[in-house]
Amino acid sequence: MKWPDRRYVAVALGWAAIAALPLFTGFTHWAWELSEILGLAGLLACLALCGCPVRPREAAPPVLLSLGHHEVLGILAAAAAGLHILVALAADHTVVEYLKLTSPLYQLAGIAAFLLLLILVATSVANLRRRLWRSHRDFQATHIILGCLLLALLAAHVLTTGRYTNGYGRRVVLCAVAAGGIALLLLRRRTVQSAAPDGTVRRFAFGRHSTIIVGVIGATMLALATLGSGRAVMALREPLLPRSAALPLTFDHAKHVEVNCLACHHNYADGRGFDACIHCHRSAGPDIKVGVEARFHSFCLNCHRNPEPQFVHHGPVSGCTACHIADAAPLNGMPAQLAPR
Ligand code: HEC
Ligand code: HEC
Ligand code: HEC
Ligand code: HEC
Repeated sequence: MKWPDRRYVAVALGWAAIAALPLFTGFTHWAWELSEILGLAGLLACLALCGCPVRPREAAPPVLLSLGHHEVLGILAAAAAGLHILVALAADHTVVEYLKLTSPLYQLAGIAAFLLLLILVATSVANLRRRLWRSHRDFQATHIILGCLLLALLAAHVLTTGRYTNGYGRRVVLCAVAAGGIALLLLRRRTVQSAAPDGTVRRFAFGRHSTIIVGVIGATMLALATLGSGRAVMALREPLLPRSAALPLTFDHAKHVEVNCLACHHNYADGRGFDACIHCHRSAGPDIKVGVEARFHSFCLNCHRNPEPQFVHHGPVSGCTACHIADAAPLNGMPAQLAPR
């Protein structure tokens, strides 16, 4: 058997590493896990669609996926993404919060990515494609530019959610695989390679659109590189519009007796005052640097997903109702579990 081109092998290995991530990230609740696995499947399908472009026939490295398979994979990606959203909503109605304009940016990026995927699939149907674009090259260029945008939005959504990709190492792997995939879009035409009349850029498969496509791919790679940093991830957690009221929270102190009070109630140690967390963190105080979703989702989930050795016996907390319960009684003074008996 002949090995495929080593560029494909490298991207495929990274792809397989991402596909294996759920094995290392614990298990919470079957419906929630199903939703998240479907989301991951949609991402993997999109990465494969970029990494195995279908044109041109005389490409170097050679094309792996037929047009028919490419189309089927596109439809499967859209179906997986749609089910990812539906199952999440069915598993946990609080997810509705992520469909509002007060939702954090990375969730809006996920919604935008889903809509873009639907557009990409719908406009690829032969009849519609021919009606919308006279020349096949124009369709191809639009398809690739939207594909790059899709990948950037997906990366923003998945990396910030951080269910499977939390931690610097995993973020870098995902960004590298996405960047490698879109680099493979720059297939060369074998036949034109030697002639290359108009400089190197024109050797790529897109003819007169080559320059703009190379530019878009470069910009996407830059965006992916930025997403590797924790800073960008915190910024994407800010809401588009601020919420008027906090989401209700049940916090079980009894489950946290192993954790030092001051690990959370830092304000008792650093002299910031004796308030409740969200009174400060939801205030417009000048010393509050990030929003409440950014602060608390990363703080709470971080310990749950990457527990220090002494906390290993507990798994991740996913879904929303583990923490947000609508009719939760507000905590008043000393939590019951801690009160002297
Ligand atoms: C893992 C983080 C964490 C740890 C550890 C923790 N707490 Fe809390 N505590 C919270 C959160 C979050 C709230 C707010 C809960 C809410 O609003 O529903 C809270 C609320 C409280 C409140 C009510 C504050 C108010 O003004 O409403 C008291 C009192 C309290 N904690 C005491 C303690 C004590 C004492 C300990 C140590 C034995 C402790 N906590 C450990 C996170 C923690
Ligand atoms: C009196 C105001 C106040 C209270 C009460 C308060 N915080 Fe903070 N907290 C701050 C400020 C100010 C900062 C630093 C600015 C920022 O990160 O937004 C901060 C920072 C943090 C950080 C980031 C720390 C770091 O090293 O990056 C975490 C996590 C945090 N708070 C969690 C909590 C939790 C959990 C509670 C309640 C158990 C709480 N805070 C209660 C004011 C408060
Ligand atoms: C320093 C580590 C740490 C931090 C920070 C932390 N937790 Fe936890 N959490 C734990 C541990 C340990 C358990 C215990 C799990 C067990 O008993 O199996 C737990 C359990 C829970 C559970 C119950 C999960 C279950 O499956 O029963 C919830 C809900 C929870 N934490 C919410 C929060 C919230 C909300 C915050 C942020 C305010 C938070 N945690 C911050 C360590 C942490
Ligand atoms: C580990 C516990 C935990 C889980 C799980 C969790 N949250 Fe939160 N969330 C918090 C805490 C703590 C806060 C800050 C306090 C608050 O606003 O209630 C918060 C805040 C938020 C905010 C910002 C509220 C504001 O005041 O602006 C939104 C939106 C939100 N969560 C949505 C969700 C959704 C949707 C889910 C499920 C996909 C979810 N959360 C799962 C702990 C959690």
